[in-house]
Amino acid sequence: MCGILGYIGKERALGTFLDGLSRLEYRGYDSCGVVGIKEGNFFLKKHPGKIHELRSGLKDFLEERFPIGIFHTRWATHGRPSQANAHPHLDCKSQIAIVHNGIIENYLALKDALIKEGHKFVSETDTEVVVHLIEKFYNGSLKDAVYKAIKKLHGSFSLGVISLKDPTRLIAVRKGSPLIVGLGKDGNFIASDIPAILPFAKEVVYLKDEEVAVIRSDKVEIFHFKGSSVKLEIERIRIKPQDAEKKGFEHFMLKEIHEQPEALKRIFSLYVKRNTIEFPYLNLDEKYVKSLKKIFITACGTAYHAGYVAKYFLEKYCDLDIEIDTSSEFRYRTLNVTKNDLLLTISQSGETADTLAAVRDMERHGVKVLSICNVEGSTLTKESDGIIFTHAGPEIGVASTKAYTAQIMVLVLLALYIGKIRKTIAEKDLKVMLRELSVLPEHQKEILAKINEVKKIAKEFSKFGCFLFLARGINYPSALEGALKLKEISYIPAEGYPAGEMKHGPIALIDEYRGVVCVAPKDFLYEKMISNMQEIKARKGKILAIVNCGDTQASRLSDAVIHCPQLKNNDFSPMLVAVGLQLFAYYVAKNLGCEIDQPRNLAKSVTVE
Ligand code: F6R
Repeated sequence: MCGILGYIGKERALGTFLDGLSRLEYRGYDSCGVVGIKEGNFFLKKHPGKIHELRSGLKDFLEERFPIGIFHTRWATHGRPSQANAHPHLDCKSQIAIVHNGIIENYLALKDALIKEGHKFVSETDTEVVVHLIEKFYNGSLKDAVYKAIKKLHGSFSLGVISLKDPTRLIAVRKGSPLIVGLGKDGNFIASDIPAILPFAKEVVYLKDEEVAVIRSDKVEIFHFKGSSVKLEIERIRIKPQDAEKKGFEHFMLKEIHEQPEALKRIFSLYVKRNTIEFPYLNLDEKYVKSLKKIFITACGTAYHAGYVAKYFLEKYCDLDIEIDTSSEFRYRTLNVTKNDLLLTISQSGETADTLAAVRDMERHGVKVLSICNVEGSTLTKESDGIIFTHAGPEIGVASTKAYTAQIMVLVLLALYIGKIRKTIAEKDLKVMLRELSVLPEHQKEILAKINEVKKIAKEFSKFGCFLFLARGINYPSALEGALKLKEISYIPAEGYPAGEMKHGPIALIDEYRGVVCVAPKDFLYEKMISNMQEIKARKGKILAIVNCGDTQASRLSDAVIHCPQLKNNDFSPMLVAVGLQLFAYYVAKNLGCEIDQPRNLAKSVTVE
């Protein structure tokens, strides 16, 4: 949450920094600000709104060039979104500037003490204490002052600091919240994530926890919090600048929905070679896989729903006990774990604070951790024993779409891999399943081709004030995910439920003013879904059903249908159903005039608890 960008080097135009900052807007977008140093003075502008509004306010300055600056887009934690609470924050003498991502947990005590010492605070943020601490400790060296200040801080923080007293250095700090250093031709950058620096830098250093970087235009030095110098581990950036662009689509979300067939195809071709599944960074030997007793799955939000699909799959095909919980609950549970257990985490960003906490906790208990992650170089990928990348490409729309189906594809392949080793899946069944998985991208395209039908349905259904999403079995997580997509981008209350649970409460909601989305593919639970749909019809509920092509029974009971191709193995259907549900949520939100890529109150990467 919050995006940081910083630069030091040959002068660059303010407009290019705003472009870079915009590519971090998925992290938070309730206020923003910039500060650069020009002829010995700060050029500071803050705005209690989005970056494009700040840009309009700065239209006469976009070509102004700065050799050093720090930039910020905020997701408010302490203090409402306002001009005063927007970053950068300055010290009392307006000589030091700071941007921050994270939370300073002990800020109130520090603030009281600093006020007593005469420091003047102008915001309600936790961040402002940091710049006053640096001011207090400054004695000729910005680096030393930063070191002294961070020793006083509890919580998580990535920081960018510049000062008029030494405009030849940009200081960056990482503890808990992500931060990278980008190495450019004419200067160096710091950023919360790679997309911000894509056009400017080809190489990157991922700062590790408790590291400080002292960055000059032609030199980067990294030190541990304890003071020792750290060797630079330089990696090439593999993402292309155009991967983070809309490519003609109206929204990133729509573009990312359309990228799903390509992502699934990529995953399949990377991990399946001549009917053999291989994961290069799995790091789990066969003996361990055979001895596995239980897998704990943990993740948040959409990634949790992908994990829920995997639970059904792993139980059915691998003869394993599976437990699943959201990371925010999992991390506080008392669990009996053994060395024959595995923690499986799933995260698009690899920076979700609760998921990282769960990983650290299980590692302390000696449990191995395997993570499914989209972002290379993210904290999760550095801290897990094994890693499988989803290779979905950058996901910028705040509502997760392509990462979800990519996660399911990877998890299904993982289950098949484990099943083969544990001999719970026969070789011939494996071949048949792989064949069907290889054509799933084509089936997704068939659903995408029905976009105009979904558009019409969404128009009709966007008048309903509340939605129930119902499904059974392996598509129960599809109902959860469909409801999450709809509520997060359209703000219409929506609940995902197992259809069999409907009679235990949610049925009270049903009348002619509510929409009910029923996921009803033709599988062994189809007849039971039909009974549930009859019950909804009897109460005048308006049904949108996700059914297989050629379906008649469920379709007859429905006010609208979205067709998905019939699969031989229905256990793969969540990857198809998701496309229909995502398009439905997208067009309902569009119809209601919502800000699809940046829904209110949300941020894509949840780096605080
Ligand atoms: C919903 C959404 C969130 C994320 C959740 C986990 O569309 O995007 O629910 O899925 O915040 O994020 P990651 O996967 O980055 O750990």
